[in-house]
Amino acid sequence: MMNLTLKIWRQADAKSQGKMETFKVTEISEHMSFLEMLDVLNEQLINEGKDPVAFDHDCREGICGACSLYINGQPHGPDRAITTCQLHMRTFKDGDTIYIEPWRAKAFPVIKDLVVDRTAFDRIMQSGGYVSVNTSGNTIDANAIPIPKEDADNAFDAATCIGCGACVAACKNASAMLFVSAKVSQLALLPQGKVERQDRVLNMVEQMDKEGFGNCTNTGACSIECPKEISLENIARLNREYLMASLTK
Ligand code: SF4
Ligand code: FES
Repeated sequence: MMNLTLKIWRQADAKSQGKMETFKVTEISEHMSFLEMLDVLNEQLINEGKDPVAFDHDCREGICGACSLYINGQPHGPDRAITTCQLHMRTFKDGDTIYIEPWRAKAFPVIKDLVVDRTAFDRIMQSGGYVSVNTSGNTIDANAIPIPKEDADNAFDAATCIGCGACVAACKNASAMLFVSAKVSQLALLPQGKVERQDRVLNMVEQMDKEGFGNCTNTGACSIECPKEISLENIARLNREYLMASLTK
């Protein structure tokens, strides 16, 4: 069992000024997840008639990407290749002080406390992160189209991106290149995605810039902090796709 001091960012809404507040939690089991530890804190705050700390979560099993927290200066905390909901309290020691902050990026404004607005990612997806498939009843079963194993594997790896935004939070430029490159790669590698590949890459990059994400300067922090270990090779592929589309469109 651990007793911990938590320094947590509190901010009433996007317009209010925020500040760090200090809380104590006691008797935290090492087997709890980080979010369960925050649940304990919030139960305590509710029992005291205080405003609980707002934080995002949904699946609590590393799938949805909602649980986006900066913990002790690292997106999703100190462990590698996991989301915050997969982070266990055994990573910390009794008596530790833990700093918990929201993602910091102009394109992800704070909604409340630790919750940020990541709809910029949704708008990027709406600008081209899909394939237009005829669903009239004549659709060919996707498995009927032969795809080289290497392409299928690379597309699958890119498709594991959960849109959490850790790549943006980790980047000193708040660049969204790793996210966009994963989404572009996933489709560009497969026959179904090749039809719209040029419009897709041009539109998604245009929307990414409109949303106010920064430029990529190849620091690689995004890939290191990514819970799904999305490779920088996807950024190289995005740049190739963009160049080809710019030259031929
Ligand atoms: S590339 Fe990685 S860090 Fe970025 S949104 Fe996707 S899963 Fe999250
Ligand atoms: S709550 Fe869904 S990935 Fe953490």
